[in-house]
Amino acid sequence: MTILVLGATGKTGRRVVARLRSEGIAVRAASRSGETRFDWTDRGTWANAVQDVEAVYLVAPDDPEPIEAFVQQAVAAGVRRFVALSGRGMDAAVGRFGAGMAEGERVVRASGAEWTILGANNFAQNFDEDLWHEPVLAGRLALPAGELREPFVDIEDVAEVAVKVLTSPGHHGRTYELSGPEALTFAEAVAVIGKVSGRSIEYVAQTPAEYRADLLALGWPAEVADELNALFEIMLEGHLATPADDIERLLGRPAGSFTAYAERVWAG
Ligand SMILES: NC(=O)c1ccc[n+]([C@@H]2O[C@H](COP(=O)([O-])OP(=O)(O)OC[C@H]3O[C@@H](n4cnc5c(N)ncnc54)[C@H](OP(=O)(O)O)[C@@H]3O)[C@@H](O)[C@H]2O)c1
Repeated sequence: MTILVLGATGKTGRRVVARLRSEGIAVRAASRSGETRFDWTDRGTWANAVQDVEAVYLVAPDDPEPIEAFVQQAVAAGVRRFVALSGRGMDAAVGRFGAGMAEGERVVRASGAEWTILGANNFAQNFDEDLWHEPVLAGRLALPAGELREPFVDIEDVAEVAVKVLTSPGHHGRTYELSGPEALTFAEAVAVIGKVSGRSIEYVAQTPAEYRADLLALGWPAEVADELNALFEIMLEGHLATPADDIERLLGRPAGSFTAYAERVWAG
């Protein structure tokens, strides 16, 4: 059995690849710069990626346009199972945020193959591998998040769940909600990182307009700024705020805490 991992150089994909390989499972690690070249925008790269594959870890592109054609081609080539990474609470996000993820969910559900959706909360690793890393290093994280609470999920757990679902039966038709065990405000989250790292980090609650202006000044396109504001709007509405227990039910142990993440990544 070969498993195709899309986004294989990314935050979750590279962890899924490593975990599958450590279990001796054959993996095709694919992305534009990955071991197997796969580009959502270049259909000539798709056939090679899906050949002799049983299951796909699907990290959707932001642009929803190519997803349906890719999934159809994969099913025609023999793929029998899709595990799609998505955001938690995408029903509340429709038309506002995550068009690619929403299309990924729609398309795998209609594919005729087995499907499972992994609806993840904001990743803890956004603080050290993504958008919030530089501000945290600079000691000032400014977001339009007010005092909202977010149960950040450790993507080591997301990857462990993905491997389980990719390689075992019983998950077809399920949408799992993947969150951390406790919901923290952003002020609390940076305080945890500050405590274990010895850094001084402040959280500043911005207005959406202030956040938008900051993102534009950093060179982000207006559409990205607006979509990120929509994400915080959805979070402020509370759709993602309550910890979910699917990680514990699937892995038989509690989800990793934000403190455990911070001690592993930020200590010293
Ligand atoms: N960050 C969060 O808190 C969060 C929470 C829930 C859901 N999500 C969702 O998770 C997904 C991102 O997953 P991730 O964080 O694991 O990945 P990531 O770290 O954002 O990396 C993106 C991956 O996609 C690949 N990629 C980019 N453009 C591509 C293209 N045109 N064709 C093929 N591959 C391409 C990249 O590799 P190359 O550059 O080599 O192509 C990379 O492997 C998004 O859909 C996001 O909305 C994120």
